[in-house]
Amino acid sequence: MNSRFVRLAESSRAPVHFTIDGRAAEALEGDTLLVAMLGAGRSLRSSEFGDDRRAGFCLMGACQDCWVWSAQGQRLRACTTPIAEGMQIVTEQTEAVWLNHE
Ligand code: FES
Repeated sequence: MNSRFVRLAESSRAPVHFTIDGRAAEALEGDTLLVAMLGAGRSLRSSEFGDDRRAGFCLMGACQDCWVWSAQGQRLRACTTPIAEGMQIVTEQTEAVWLNHE
């Protein structure tokens, strides 16, 4: 298995389907986005400081290491966001749009 998290219990909850960078993935109802993503892969996102990948740290909304984005550009804190059917997650930060104040 090529995932960071391995589910050991509560495997009878309803399945939830979502995508990570266009790749189909499956989690279970009630998972956080972080659990869903690390159950489907090794990391959450690219680092903004280098080539490393990030996988969260505190798992409780304090460290800000688990930011990912929806396909629509919404920033999501993976450890405090519940997974939902049809979510489309992006692991590279979309290009920032700066307002032009002329
Ligand atoms: S893992 Fe620390 S804020 Fe989400």
